[in-house]
Amino acid sequence: MVISDKHILITGANSGIGKACTEYLAVKGFKIYAGARRQEDIEALNEIKNVIGLKIDVTNNQTIKEAFDYVKNENSGLFAIVNNAGIAIAGPLMDISTDDLINQFDVNLIGIHRITKAFFPLLLDSKGRIIMVSSNSGFFSAPFFGPYSSSKFALEGYSDALRRELLLYNVKVIIIQPGRIKTSIWDKGEELLGKYEGSIFKKEAYKIGKYAIEKGKNNSLNPSKVAKVVLTALKKKDPKNRYMIVPDKFRNKLLKILPSRRIDKIIKKELVKIKFSPD
Ligand SMILES: NC(=O)c1ccc[n+]([C@@H]2O[C@H](COP(=O)([O-])OP(=O)(O)OC[C@H]3O[C@@H](n4cnc5c(N)ncnc54)[C@H](OP(=O)(O)O)[C@@H]3O)[C@@H](O)[C@H]2O)c1
Repeated sequence: MVISDKHILITGANSGIGKACTEYLAVKGFKIYAGARRQEDIEALNEIKNVIGLKIDVTNNQTIKEAFDYVKNENSGLFAIVNNAGIAIAGPLMDISTDDLINQFDVNLIGIHRITKAFFPLLLDSKGRIIMVSSNSGFFSAPFFGPYSSSKFALEGYSDALRRELLLYNVKVIIIQPGRIKTSIWDKGEELLGKYEGSIFKKEAYKIGKYAIEKGKNNSLNPSKVAKVVLTALKKKDPKNRYMIVPDKFRNKLLKILPSRRIDKIIKKELVKIKFSPD
């Protein structure tokens, strides 16, 4: 593969995993169309060699159309999309508003559909690749992370169907499943912790949320690990369908194979401990 000929679109390129992928792949010689929402982020991305910042809000068709027109007019072709932009909404499902749930899916699933559909003609021409940044929450649903994990489960289903629909067209769909990665997504989660004051689930949701955030901030992998795997997914002639990048591989493998009733029993024990502890 001649890397310097290959152009890649990355959404949510100004922060965390998207930024790490942008910087790493640009150093490797790829030309990056880097999507961001704010002007100052676009300008900062434009400062990086091999990177062109583009305004892209994955919930806004107009920005997607303008970005597509820009890329098409460049005549550069497009080898891959890294569908990275995402948000994480957490909290007890019985307290989550319909609007919050719609917002979660609008970014993490429908946003990916908008982007992929818009740029698909270019990927068909290049026999390119679609990289989906999913999560270990795309195969394990933790209590009080329902909105986020249901959006990632949906993304996994979407990606499996798309991969199979494209088998005859030489466009590959590859799912990346990171576990805890040290990014600002965890700071954003912190704002949600106090949100469910009157909820019957307040105590469990708060403790489990706080524990996850603590781990996400302090016991997590560097986003550069994901960038390296994305490079593999772009370069390998015959890439895997899924790449898991987690700090605790054994635990995640167990979560994939243990019967769900067994996992429920373990979770129930934890919930009981929290619910009936004195504080
Ligand atoms: N960090 C982890 O532990 C972890 C684990 C598994 C999977 N992931 C996934 O990795 C992806 C990146 O997350 P991250 O951890 O790097 O978080 P992050 O630092 O918060 O980055 C999220 C990126 O998505 C962008 N974004 C949010 N809403 C958008 C929208 N409507 N249109 C366009 N861009 C939008 C953000 O832009 P703004 O700055 O403008 O908000 C930001 O660039 C997400 O899909 C996430 O679910 C993360």
